[in-house]
Amino acid sequence: MSQLRESIHGQWSSRWIFVLAATGSAVGLGNIWKFPYITGENGGGAFVLIYLLCIAVIGIPIMMAEIMLGRRGRRSPINTMRHLAAEEGRSPLWQYLGWAGVLAGVLILSYYSVIAGWSLAYVARAVSGVFEGATADAVGLVFSDLVSDPERLLAWHTIFMVMTMVVVARGVKGGLEKAVSYLMPALFVLLIILVGYAMSTDHFVDGLSFLFTPDFSKLTTDGVLIAMGHAFFTLSLGMGAIMVYGSYLPEHTSIAKTTFMVAGADTLVALLAGMAIFPIVFANGLEPASGPGLVFQTLPIAFGQMPGGTFFASLFFVLLVFAAWSSAISLIEPLVAWLVENKNMTRIMASVWAGMGTWLLGIGTVLSFNVLSGKEYQLFDKTFFDLLDYLTANIMLPLGGLLIAVFAVWQMRKQSSMDELEMSNTTGYQLWRFLLQYITPIAVVLVFLRAIGVI
Ligand code: PHE
Repeated sequence: MSQLRESIHGQWSSRWIFVLAATGSAVGLGNIWKFPYITGENGGGAFVLIYLLCIAVIGIPIMMAEIMLGRRGRRSPINTMRHLAAEEGRSPLWQYLGWAGVLAGVLILSYYSVIAGWSLAYVARAVSGVFEGATADAVGLVFSDLVSDPERLLAWHTIFMVMTMVVVARGVKGGLEKAVSYLMPALFVLLIILVGYAMSTDHFVDGLSFLFTPDFSKLTTDGVLIAMGHAFFTLSLGMGAIMVYGSYLPEHTSIAKTTFMVAGADTLVALLAGMAIFPIVFANGLEPASGPGLVFQTLPIAFGQMPGGTFFASLFFVLLVFAAWSSAISLIEPLVAWLVENKNMTRIMASVWAGMGTWLLGIGTVLSFNVLSGKEYQLFDKTFFDLLDYLTANIMLPLGGLLIAVFAVWQMRKQSSMDELEMSNTTGYQLWRFLLQYITPIAVVLVFLRAIGVI
């Protein structure tokens, strides 16, 4: 057994706080911004089906493994991996899995913050009432005006990074968790209102059938990789975010139950967002494959037409900012925890350094939508933002998740995982183990090989 039963960074005061924090990490731009647009780009139903399958057979077992490793290690992911590898008599090289996660977190946050900045900008636009009665064209123009202006994007990106660092500096257990406990349910209710509006358009059925009728002829091999990558991204897996939150989890809380709650809430939010957005897309003759601007170009049309629209639009974008905020802090927490543990920094200093580095990198994404958007600045047909997103979500996270699975079931003694999960050798435990031993590694490797054209 590990000696250290509580992290030096403190501990969540209850299991519910952990569920909230982990849900706060999982539910974010991935659900409301990314899921709808990549679904639109990848043909709908078949893509959604693969995504759901990946959540069930890969995402859920890996989330349990990450929480388990975190709670057993009680340190930042780098030190957790180093410590657990030593405890299990395994190679010290496992600590590099922690490093890869830290890097992935910084890369993701660098662009995440820019998109969260769009949401902030939309709060300002919504409050001023610009969406009232606006046509699809007018709404589209608001979006293109915003992203074509690097200065404005930079300003919003900066504001969001500062917001994130302030919370991280004060410790993740501070005020934000309490705020999230009200705001997440509010976001949920607002999404339901939006789905209600979508039902009133005469294209609700079109939207549903786009999302839920699989047509495998529309799914490319790259689409399968993107669906799998998104399962990792949306559940915050494969980079240590959930691991570091797990390290603050008190003993004797059921990791399995907690995981089901988080994964269930996350999936529900994504599906609701899809059900709100696609009917609006079809009702207004918009293009489902229009890319990262999709949410920003569709939901405002709906708000513009409903009674109290300015109020609802403002509230929605505020809630989206909060959802992004509670995800952003978990992206940088592994690095900050490591700086505090190993570099003897205060949380404040650690947050400042981590934040400045990430902010700087974010400028690449800011420019991807304007100055550097041209073909001559692209690599493999992708802008800097596209490359970062592809590399992290579709390669780094699945690879990180795969290695986490390998460590949890092939490197750790069976007894250690049974102890930490507080499970005996039941069918549930055996199923978990089987999925991680065989299904996860085989699935991830097959999808990779297929994506690079080897099979
Ligand atoms: N899960 C978050 C979202 O869906 C993003 C995220 C990815 C957060 C990886 C932490 C780690 O928005």
